[in-house]
Amino acid sequence: MSPISSSSAVLCEKLQHRTAKVAVLGLGYVGTPLAIHLAQSGYAVTGFDPQVSRVNAINGGRSPVQDVDNHAVLTLRAGGLLHATADSEGLAEHDVFILCVPTPLTDSKQPDVSYIEQAADSLVDHLRPGCLVILESTTYPGTTDELLLPILQRSGLTPEVDLFVAFSPERVDPGNASFNTGNIPKLVGGIGPASTEMATTLYRSFLTQVFPVSSARVAEMAKLHENTFRAINIGYVNELAVVCNTLGIDVWEVIDAAGTKPFGFMPFYPGPGIGGHCIPLDPHYLAWRARKAGFVTRFIDLADHVNSQMPKYIVTRIAESLNEHGRAIRGSRILALGVTYKPDVDDARESPALDVIHELERRGAQVRFVDPYVQALPQDHGPVLNAQKAELTDDTFAWTDMALILTNHSSFDWPDISARVPRVFDTRGAARNIAMNVTSL
Ligand SMILES: NC(=O)c1ccc[n+]([C@@H]2O[C@H](COP(=O)([O-])OP(=O)(O)OC[C@H]3O[C@@H](n4cnc5c(N)ncnc54)[C@H](O)[C@@H]3O)[C@@H](O)[C@H]2O)c1
Repeated sequence: MSPISSSSAVLCEKLQHRTAKVAVLGLGYVGTPLAIHLAQSGYAVTGFDPQVSRVNAINGGRSPVQDVDNHAVLTLRAGGLLHATADSEGLAEHDVFILCVPTPLTDSKQPDVSYIEQAADSLVDHLRPGCLVILESTTYPGTTDELLLPILQRSGLTPEVDLFVAFSPERVDPGNASFNTGNIPKLVGGIGPASTEMATTLYRSFLTQVFPVSSARVAEMAKLHENTFRAINIGYVNELAVVCNTLGIDVWEVIDAAGTKPFGFMPFYPGPGIGGHCIPLDPHYLAWRARKAGFVTRFIDLADHVNSQMPKYIVTRIAESLNEHGRAIRGSRILALGVTYKPDVDDARESPALDVIHELERRGAQVRFVDPYVQALPQDHGPVLNAQKAELTDDTFAWTDMALILTNHSSFDWPDISARVPRVFDTRGAARNIAMNVTSL
């Protein structure tokens, strides 16, 4: 056991009394709600982000993300508990640093941990004895020990004595009305027992359920396991949807029927692919790390293959449906309903809807989209997308040959929409059984 330094005793006391100064690096979907919860529980919080628009939003009393309302930011700003900066000098004199920076994939689907490195670089000069650094970004096992810690050690501090480092995965689910940063159980694993204890003390000071684990690697791997579990099951159920269609069986009814079993079954639902910044990406972190150790992960690659085929499969089914009504896909006017990666969120990046729209346009369809949360389609997705935003007006309905349900936003009135267009193709099981003109995946 490492000796307890006086600086660590001071940190521990500051955490117990919430007098520690906390810096959150990265003010996105993860960092912003975390900063808010910390500040609401009494910590003085600094948000650091190179994106000036996000910094200005916070300092102007506005939330940069959908899940946090402006009022929360405004109240904390007025109380002097929250402030943001794009200048890394603003990281001086903090006790706790929590990294919530992006962990995307490179073009060749390899982990891109450069944001973690940059964030660590920007805080290393500000570390002082008795400080705690926590990584919350999703990443491969070993990142905290092998990548983050060596950068932090440039400070000259001694790990587990006066420098405490831990990994604590963020499990936030944007748009989830029941679970948020404040009530999602938190896993914590440090580079050693003292770090685990220090990070656990921090989270227990403002969250109700905190579960320490034996190492940072276990916490890193647990997060990848959670999301890879989802990606693989979605891959399986997408394959099941194709099989059911081939056999003339309604996959949605099958899932509901299986769901009557009260144990040993958890429903997953098919759709136009998988989207978001986590489920499609995180399994690649696991696969990459396994490959580096000489092991090829077949489940992950198979699920990725099945899921990435879904947009093309959907368009084939749309073509069949149009054909049954004597129409070709080329020249057909398709109204895409919902383009975000999941319902009731405002984020269309990494959405499979974009791949479906691209494939429709590639095959000559005219596409317009309706989405209350999105003004224009992201154009950094790959191929150029021509679809323009439309509203649910009489003119739009008159223009439409087929409505295509891609995201089941709760504000859409499916019976009304189905009644006003010639036919509907439903990739989400949202409008099944409500009208004769609806074809479901
Ligand atoms: N969004 C989710 O639903 C979710 C859920 C769980 C975990 N995660 C993980 O959390 C991490 C962050 O995700 P997010 O959705 O909040 O991303 P995001 O893109 O919404 O926000 C990340 C922020 O970090 C900022 N940033 C980039 N480089 C920085 C640096 N060097 N220093 C400080 N800030 C920097 C960016 O400008 C951006 O504002 C990722 O690893 C992600 O996989 C995300």
